[in-house]
Amino acid sequence: MSVYLNNAATSWPKPEPVARAVADFLTNGGANLGRGASGARDIGTMSLVLDCRIKLAELLGGYDKDSRLVTFCSGVTEALNVVLKGFFESKTRSGCKVKFITTSMEHNAVARPLAALKERGAELVILPCVADGTLDPEVLALALSKDCAYDKARCIADIVVLSHASNVCGSVQPLEKIADITRRRGVPLVVDSAQTAGVIPIDAAALSLSALCFTGHKGLMGPQGIGGALWKADFASEVLPLIEGGTGSFSHLLSQPSDMPDKFESGTPNLPGIAGLFAALSWLAATGIDNIASHEKELGEAFLSRMRRSPQAERVTLYGLPEMGENRLGVFALNIGGCDNGILAGKLSDAGFDTRPGLHCAPLAHKTLGTLPEGSLRASIGYFNTKDEIEAFWDCVESLI
Ligand SMILES: Cc1ncc(COP(=O)(O)O)c(C=O)c1O
Repeated sequence: MSVYLNNAATSWPKPEPVARAVADFLTNGGANLGRGASGARDIGTMSLVLDCRIKLAELLGGYDKDSRLVTFCSGVTEALNVVLKGFFESKTRSGCKVKFITTSMEHNAVARPLAALKERGAELVILPCVADGTLDPEVLALALSKDCAYDKARCIADIVVLSHASNVCGSVQPLEKIADITRRRGVPLVVDSAQTAGVIPIDAAALSLSALCFTGHKGLMGPQGIGGALWKADFASEVLPLIEGGTGSFSHLLSQPSDMPDKFESGTPNLPGIAGLFAALSWLAATGIDNIASHEKELGEAFLSRMRRSPQAERVTLYGLPEMGENRLGVFALNIGGCDNGILAGKLSDAGFDTRPGLHCAPLAHKTLGTLPEGSLRASIGYFNTKDEIEAFWDCVESLI
């Protein structure tokens, strides 16, 4: 038996058209983007990339559905680096101090760039989340009110960056309330949607997000190595590019173009990745993110109910929120009394069940959940899991502990 319960790391399997689209691009398309003589294959690549931007803007609430405000890079890690470091560089050059405000549940994709920027002089405020991994919006409101959100006189530029949902325990932050606070205070809000894009509905423009960073290979169901950001136009104009180079446009200039999306897209993009992502987004649109969310909620409920019916239930500690709901994904961090989570994950793997043990690139989150230093065993469900697989997982756990 082979059961994949590591969808928080990367979704698998992918919808069938995804691999076909990657192969088709490499076999029949293959032209570079804006770097040819506009033959049919060049135009094919241009339309593919444009269509993929449009689809992302439609699915994730891009501003005015403007494809120019969707930029590609290798994934959410790179997108967060581009946004956070580019904002820091821009404000620092104009003589401002930057104050980054984040949470105690962040993945290292947020935590490490911020730690590096702190070394370079940024102020860093890490807001404590409660034990279930959620942030009380009042804590954010208080953090902003102390130092005035965007204090032009003292030239302190605040910026809030956080993950929409925890990759460790599946807790979803109250993004509407958070966005309401940052919008009223005029503070940019940057969101890491690694765990939520494609899994629950997101509308970046309705939330007035400054940048929504996404990765293609998790809930968006695409291949690895493709991701990017949806930008608010005025915020994009405030951010300096992290990487300069050829864009296939404005080639007479030695300076990086300021036009979107070229400003943040130097070098040849991952075109096979974009082909796969576009196929995945088309599948998502046809399936419906609402339907995906309710299906995963049902699977999550089955997981929790089977866990609680286990004769070994008393030995199981579940972290994060106890029930499925709007603020919980099907990402379950567990520890089982008397078991080392790494050894248990190894035994599960030998039996055909893929999970992930340890710290999940998120030591801050584990500190918040009280699971340092050992971390936890994470089982994360995806659209293609079944209730039978969940039953089999718990049967197997019971036989191993
Ligand atoms: C919340 C969160 N942020 C960032 C990342 C990094 O994603 P990628 O490796 O695709 O850049 C992950 C992946 O595990 C994640 O779960």
